[in-house]
Amino acid sequence: MNGTVNGSAHENHTNGTGRTIFDAVSARIPSRAALAVKLMTKYRDSPIQEVTVENVMNGMRGLQCILWEISETGATGIRHHGKSLQELEALLPKWPGSTQMSPEAMLWYLYTATVPTPAEVQTFAAEISARAELPLEAQTFFDSLPTNILPEAQVIMMLTFLSQYSKFNTAVSSGVSKDELWRYSLEDALDVAGRIPLIVGRAYAKGKGLSTKAGFSPSSDLAHNFARLIGKDSDLDFIEFTRLCWCLYLDHGSSVSSHAMRLVGSAWSEPYTTIATGIVGGTGPLHAKAIADSVNFNLDVMSSLGAAPTKDEIFTYVGNCLTQGQIIPGYGHALLRVPDPRLELLRRFLDTHPSSDPKVHSFLSLIRNMNDNVPDLLRERVRGMKNPHPNGDALNGCILHAYGLPTEYLLCFFACSRAMGFMSQYIWDRALGLSMERPLSLTMDELLAKVQK
Ligand SMILES: CC(C)(COP(=O)(O)OP(=O)(O)OC[C@H]1O[C@@H](n2cnc3c(N)ncnc32)[C@H](O)[C@@H]1OP(=O)(O)O)[C@@H](O)C(=O)NCCC(=O)NCCS
Repeated sequence: MNGTVNGSAHENHTNGTGRTIFDAVSARIPSRAALAVKLMTKYRDSPIQEVTVENVMNGMRGLQCILWEISETGATGIRHHGKSLQELEALLPKWPGSTQMSPEAMLWYLYTATVPTPAEVQTFAAEISARAELPLEAQTFFDSLPTNILPEAQVIMMLTFLSQYSKFNTAVSSGVSKDELWRYSLEDALDVAGRIPLIVGRAYAKGKGLSTKAGFSPSSDLAHNFARLIGKDSDLDFIEFTRLCWCLYLDHGSSVSSHAMRLVGSAWSEPYTTIATGIVGGTGPLHAKAIADSVNFNLDVMSSLGAAPTKDEIFTYVGNCLTQGQIIPGYGHALLRVPDPRLELLRRFLDTHPSSDPKVHSFLSLIRNMNDNVPDLLRERVRGMKNPHPNGDALNGCILHAYGLPTEYLLCFFACSRAMGFMSQYIWDRALGLSMERPLSLTMDELLAKVQK
């Protein structure tokens, strides 16, 4: 952490206390529990929305039916506890010398709905850092996995191996009261926040033949520690970009990875296995795999058309892909109906951290050129597409690739962030005693019978 955390732009949000995350969550529980009780008593049977055939046929799209304590998703972008990413960028404390939000500060905010004081971030980061260790038998297990298994598969296996250390599981098995389970899930959440970057860093080190012995330094923050594990601790731009990316991708409401974790966690599966299911959800090309696919797609464009293709050349190339029925990774969104607000922050990062490497510069210029032109073609060719704009995945992985992170590690890089962020929802599910997810299912014949009635 190299000293203390800088105050945010809004000093009135800092009160100098160094509460622990347990104190802060505990302080918020009574008001949220009271609200939950009010909703479930006074308004229990109040309708909020009609369900249409389209909602059912179209993957529950448009249905506001998943209670998400930490954010609301909509057509214009995510808001965490009512605040946009841009607002949070201005409010959240930063590490000394950094211009980016601190993932630890953002994580604290997700857990507590309060902007942390510098002292709170410091205490929180130290708590996570102290838990960044792996039991010896887990290290042996991980190191025994062959390196020709995909990194995400190794991480998934490691997480399921670590489930035996879940404090939540032990608490459930030993009959701890339901009201107290949030504390044990928070214990696991903090362990996971320290462990997941360690596991991903170890997978990288193993795959690249680097030493797997590197650990966390208590004097560095999460992003810096991760960079150290993968041999990039002197690359300050990479560390800064990691901070930004992890903040942007901690939570995205009920996206596939988050919803998968929410569903599995709702049956009280312990956090490690729950997080593994989120990573499985991320392997789909329509979701997080699009990050790596987008890099590969752009690399293919570059090798076919060079670094500075004309609009016509882009139209012909991408048009051929569409003719073959391909999906263009990095464009479109299931929910957003405006350009992805995360792109603005990613682009601003590029503008303020220009690369001096001409190869990197030309690859990133190509992405910008593609982002500017591909939407026009999609508008023309994919008539039903609701949002032809690039999404965050059109750029985030490309920047990481330019920093030298190979595409096969991109999913794991983002899994660190999504795992940490999702746990803030998991503990609130336990703290509020929310139910297991159990929607009703129906066949198309039943659906038809209902609408014809
Ligand atoms: C994100 C995504 C899954 C949203 O899908 P969706 O909600 O069905 O989007 P729409 O309703 O706008 O899709 C309408 C049509 O456009 C197509 N379409 C959407 N995005 C497309 C893309 N990037 N390339 C080609 N076709 C696309 C859909 O497949 C659908 O076709 P269909 O009517 O034949 O089924 C989709 O845009 C996509 O696959 N994008 C590329 C992958 C990606 O970047 N994922 C990360 C998202 S953050």
